[in-house]
Amino acid sequence: MGKKVLAVFYTQSGQLASIIDHFTRPLLDMGATVEKVQIFPAPAYPFPWSGKSFFAVMPDCVNQVPGPLEPFSFKEASYDLIVLGYQAWFLSPSIPANSLMNDPRFKALAKNTPVITITGARNMWMSAMEKIKPVLRKMDARLVGNISLVDRHPNFVSFVTLLHWMFGGKKDRYLNIFPVPGVSEADIVHTRVYGDLVVPHIQNNNWQGLQEELVDAGAVQIRYALMFIESKARKIFKVWAGIISKRKKRTAWLVAFKYYLLIALFIAAPIILTVDAIFFKPFLSGRIKRQKQYYSGVD
Ligand SMILES: Cc1cc2nc3c(=O)[nH]c(=O)nc-3n(C[C@H](O)[C@H](O)[C@H](O)COP(=O)(O)O)c2cc1C
Repeated sequence: MGKKVLAVFYTQSGQLASIIDHFTRPLLDMGATVEKVQIFPAPAYPFPWSGKSFFAVMPDCVNQVPGPLEPFSFKEASYDLIVLGYQAWFLSPSIPANSLMNDPRFKALAKNTPVITITGARNMWMSAMEKIKPVLRKMDARLVGNISLVDRHPNFVSFVTLLHWMFGGKKDRYLNIFPVPGVSEADIVHTRVYGDLVVPHIQNNNWQGLQEELVDAGAVQIRYALMFIESKARKIFKVWAGIISKRKKRTAWLVAFKYYLLIALFIAAPIILTVDAIFFKPFLSGRIKRQKQYYSGVD
């Protein structure tokens, strides 16, 4: 019988839709039915964003507060594979992605079903994925693969270009000096290779070894500096989100968070990373290797 695949995702710019298209192409070519379902929050989040609306979603992202979605439906009662597209917002699953994972119909479908997660992030997706793993585990989904596409430019460059993209709505070059923001077109097209790797696994309904094959093919790349920054920032974001979500008047706090973020990224992070590179990193190579292995995996 033909295999049935559900690819469900949210996207603002269309980047994640494009990634999903390329990834699922080999599955279509092998004769599988691929049902693509794009979800829409109700009301929609602004795109392009204003500075205020962008930072205003931080507490609910970090606290994983789901929101309402426009009506949507799935055609089948069960699938051989679910491809879950998500994006990281403030080191957490985006609110629409989190809302989807809280939908009872999604939970019922995902139970005992192989799931591959796929993201098109700026470059910090690990903490979001760490929040997704227990949610999937709780609904008895089988996480069999994870693909993380990122903007490969230096951290501060991709920060500037992401904001240009998010606040301007166009994935183009800021001031004609900066590179194009987001995941590169070449990396998006390359996602097809990861889809090719999935084909024998879905055909044999044997998912063992898929993640290792994906990692070998470059589907997950872990940079130490980003892993380090995320591990610190996610704890601090949690504190900010806890404080801000308790306030009735949030504007001043969100402005403070914005400046904190700028100072943390452009001033504190380079200093802390330099100190770490001199005093700690050289003595922690075993631990760093284990951490990289862990974040590359799906356990
Ligand atoms: C509010 C907001 C917060 C974001 N935070 C992060 C983040 O913490 N880490 C990251 O790698 N990318 C972050 N991004 C970028 C998104 O993960 C994603 O790459 C971008 O929004 C494009 O996705 P799209 O397919 O929905 O258009 C953020 C984007 C938005 C809008």
